[in-house]
Amino acid sequence: MAKVLVTQQIGDEGVQKLREAGHVVTYRDDTEPMTPAELQTAVRHSEGLVCLLTDRVDTAVLDAAPNLKMIANVAVGYDNIDLAAATQRGVLVSNTPDVLTETTADHAFALLLAIARRIPEADAFMRADKYEKFEMFPPLLGLDVYGKTLGIVGLGRIGAAVARRGALGFGMKVLYTATEAKTAVEQELGAERVTLPELLRQSDFVSINVPLTSETRHLFTLDTLRQMKPTACLINTARGPIVKEADLLTALREGIIWGAALDVFEDEPRMVSGLAQQHERLVVAPHLGSATGETRRKMVDTAVTNLLAGLSGQTPPNALNPEIVGQADE
Ligand code: DGY
Repeated sequence: MAKVLVTQQIGDEGVQKLREAGHVVTYRDDTEPMTPAELQTAVRHSEGLVCLLTDRVDTAVLDAAPNLKMIANVAVGYDNIDLAAATQRGVLVSNTPDVLTETTADHAFALLLAIARRIPEADAFMRADKYEKFEMFPPLLGLDVYGKTLGIVGLGRIGAAVARRGALGFGMKVLYTATEAKTAVEQELGAERVTLPELLRQSDFVSINVPLTSETRHLFTLDTLRQMKPTACLINTARGPIVKEADLLTALREGIIWGAALDVFEDEPRMVSGLAQQHERLVVAPHLGSATGETRRKMVDTAVTNLLAGLSGQTPPNALNPEIVGQADE
């Protein structure tokens, strides 16, 4: 039996599963993250921690929780957790891959289509009662998607799922960047691995699907955006800080790129000043990549399954530092 802190609202099912396993759960049924000081206090006696991507689990939090054995992040991205520091302290960390792959790829593609065909602008146009006549060349002319070139920055699970939609559903040529060649995806989709400058030079749509790391922070600046075609669109469903948002705004205002669709922001939940006022050729959504009821429930269940395994001394199915398991007993 372990003391478990659930930092934010995850729904009753997951909490019940933890309690049924005999753990003593402190459930903060709240949609606001705690302040760093509150989190440090709340986690003090915990052995297990279930947290969201808006909880920053840094060295201060880890140091405040001397009994902590396992952190289960309810997200696939884990840039909110200092994994190296957790590993050093013998704390297991897990994430929730796979269950959200297709859902997030659907959302990336929804954004791609929405920006290409200017759906939010069209919706606003209708609601403002501006549709007076059919025109051959209306103000809201969009871009073709079918048969265009799709550049995937980071061909991991989600990147490959986006690539599949593009290649198989929309006849797109797929280019990608990755630290190593993905031969299975190359064979399946005819995808081609290229350098980032080459991908930017050739792609009509650039989808960001890399995790946020020190290497990918501000990967997209004005300099990068200038390497894209002026007719190209950028889609970001990964993490906000990969794109320097002020530079993207400049690129949109100056027509350096054609459009952008963003699900994530540099300083969430805020957007950089001026972005909200950019109505043309910009689609924004509040971090909804994995946000379907089914998938969010699967994510919670995956995190809870991981935590239960870790707390009972087994290797969690999605452990990010499995080398920790059994270390304390050696
Ligand atoms: C993740 O899991 O990392 C997404 O950003 C939220 O679903």
